[in-house]
Amino acid sequence: MARIFAISNQKGGVGKTTTAINLASALALEEKTVLLVDLDPQGNASSGLGHPKSDVSMGIADVLLGFRDLPAVLLSTDVDGLHLAPATRELVGLEVELIEAENREFRLRSILRDHAADYDYVILDCPPSLGMLTVNALAAADGVIIPMQAEYFAMEGLSELLRAVNQIRRGGLNRELERFGIVLTMVDRRTRLGRDVCDQARAVFGQEVFDTEVPRNVRLGEAPSFGKPIHAYDPLSRGAIAYTSLAQEVLRRVSGESVEDKDTASTRQPLRVLAGGAK
Ligand SMILES: Nc1ncnc2c1ncn2[C@@H]1O[C@H](COP(=O)(O)OP(=O)(O)OP(=O)(O)O)[C@@H](O)[C@H]1O
Ligand SMILES: [Mg+2]
Repeated sequence: MARIFAISNQKGGVGKTTTAINLASALALEEKTVLLVDLDPQGNASSGLGHPKSDVSMGIADVLLGFRDLPAVLLSTDVDGLHLAPATRELVGLEVELIEAENREFRLRSILRDHAADYDYVILDCPPSLGMLTVNALAAADGVIIPMQAEYFAMEGLSELLRAVNQIRRGGLNRELERFGIVLTMVDRRTRLGRDVCDQARAVFGQEVFDTEVPRNVRLGEAPSFGKPIHAYDPLSRGAIAYTSLAQEVLRRVSGESVEDKDTASTRQPLRVLAGGAK
């Protein structure tokens, strides 16, 4: 059964797509079968994997509208075992069309359930908003991974997303949705600001923050223009090493969960309260 992660933060430009592409690629290189779903009308994950919107005729929008089956729209990538459900221009209008649709919040969930046996991991790249596409992602996901750019005001932006996650859970759209982890991105530990923001995030969110910090790395910025994940573009770069390390941490957390007892789960509660209070 696939484990499904939504990569989400309503703040723009924090590293969602970079994390979606390169975490997916790193998981595939760990011998997992991975599907990346591009839910952002900008289509950056699709172009970053070599399939720009302008070249793609069918995508996830057609599947969400019931015109195509998921396998019919899938594309291969430069990494074995990593498949892409691409964004197309139709995704722009879909946000509006879904508002009127039946079962509008659960479209993606039911599609992914039908194909859950085909993948070990499904990564959902969300747009920078909390609209219907993000709601579909959060309703479908087992966990949300939140990229947080290491800069001032990053923490304040998080409270809106954490409230939305709580609403999805409490409102019954997805009671099982887990806050799987926060990943610090574009980190520059040479600067005081970079260090301070990371330390503050760890103080507030504790174990929720992944040990791996993704450094600011020029190669990560360059790779999408070549349509390649960092592991295909420059496998020895600091960015590639960081995303491999993040994938390994994700795998450890996933396997640790099966032995996690209720006491450990309950120690997460104070963190949630604290985070909810960080408005
Ligand atoms: N660790 C990094 N080092 C250097 N550049 C990075 C890094 N992470 C992301 N970038 C660059 O920063 C920009 C924003 O990153 P990205 O597109 O991943 O963010 P996003 O949250 O998906 O944005 P949006 O909200 O628009 O979808 C991109 O140009 C990307 O190449
Ligand atoms: Mg993006």
